[in-house]
Amino acid sequence: MHNPDKNTDNANIGVVLTDPDDWTANAFLTNVRKRGANAIPINLATLSASISASDFAIFDTDLKDLLALDAIIVRDVGISFDLEQISFKFDLLRQFETANIPVMNSPTAIRNAANKFFSFYLFKQAQLPIPHTVVTSDLGVALKATKEFGIAVAKPIFGSQGKGIVKLESTQPDMKQKLATLLKERGVLYLQAFVPNPGRDIRVFVVGEEALGAIYRISQTGSFISNLSQGGTALKCDLTEEMRALAVNAAKAVGADFAGVDLIEGDEGLFVLEVNATPSGKGITLACGIDVTERVIERMFERGLRV
Ligand SMILES: Nc1ncnc2c1ncn2[C@@H]1O[C@H](COP(=O)(O)OP(=O)(O)O)[C@@H](O)[C@H]1O
Ligand SMILES: [Mg+2]
Repeated sequence: MHNPDKNTDNANIGVVLTDPDDWTANAFLTNVRKRGANAIPINLATLSASISASDFAIFDTDLKDLLALDAIIVRDVGISFDLEQISFKFDLLRQFETANIPVMNSPTAIRNAANKFFSFYLFKQAQLPIPHTVVTSDLGVALKATKEFGIAVAKPIFGSQGKGIVKLESTQPDMKQKLATLLKERGVLYLQAFVPNPGRDIRVFVVGEEALGAIYRISQTGSFISNLSQGGTALKCDLTEEMRALAVNAAKAVGADFAGVDLIEGDEGLFVLEVNATPSGKGITLACGIDVTERVIERMFERGLRV
């Protein structure tokens, strides 16, 4: 399906993005063009498909035939909680793959990583260290888990940028009511043991089998959430062998060719918190001085273009 020997000059590479001003999206476009290929920005929310008994086409607003692309790199599919829209976007990505267009990361990897329950199952299968997590729609089970954890965090199963994450302390007298309200809001509760940590987490950028660099993300005073989008600050982190192995294996577990892997330092060692299969390259590139997006594009060409 992939042809690594195909000439990259004038190859047509789609870059799936939503925000034309996004640093990582622009870095991908620039690095594709540096290789002599054409970079075509694609916003999945603006694509159309046409199906008849004899034909199938996917095209953008300029009516460009996107099934003629040579490869696709996904920066960002866009946050959408509309079931029909999000499944249409993923079906488009799957159709590109079916048409023999290499898509990186693959829609399967992006879907695995975005799902904090399914990805934890994959991490467990890969024997990676993860904090104990209970997913339930039963208030009694939720209450019992929170008590057992002592301190828990509730997260959306499909969430990002630290949004919707709340800390629950089992000693709070109104815990049952709090959980009941959350359960009503969310329909299902994702509860995880809070990992006591030094007020920071570690974001490792992985491409293929290699951990390219890492940053500590130090959470703002008064917050336990260290995402840069929540006011966390980035500081270069020197990778240890343990960090490298965990990050590479976590990315591999979800099937990602490139990823941002979140690790947290517990008292007894590191835990994997999540894999982001549509990671920002900005924080690591600026803090470590390695253009991770260049390496991602290199990997895409190494994997090969459509035959
Ligand atoms: N179990 C936990 N214990 C302590 N802190 C956590 C835990 N889970 C998440 N956090 C904090 O919240 C941040 C966001 O959590 P994460 O699981 O990476 O979700 P998101 O997809 O929103 O980034 C982490 O970077 C970390 O700072
Ligand atoms: Mg995260």
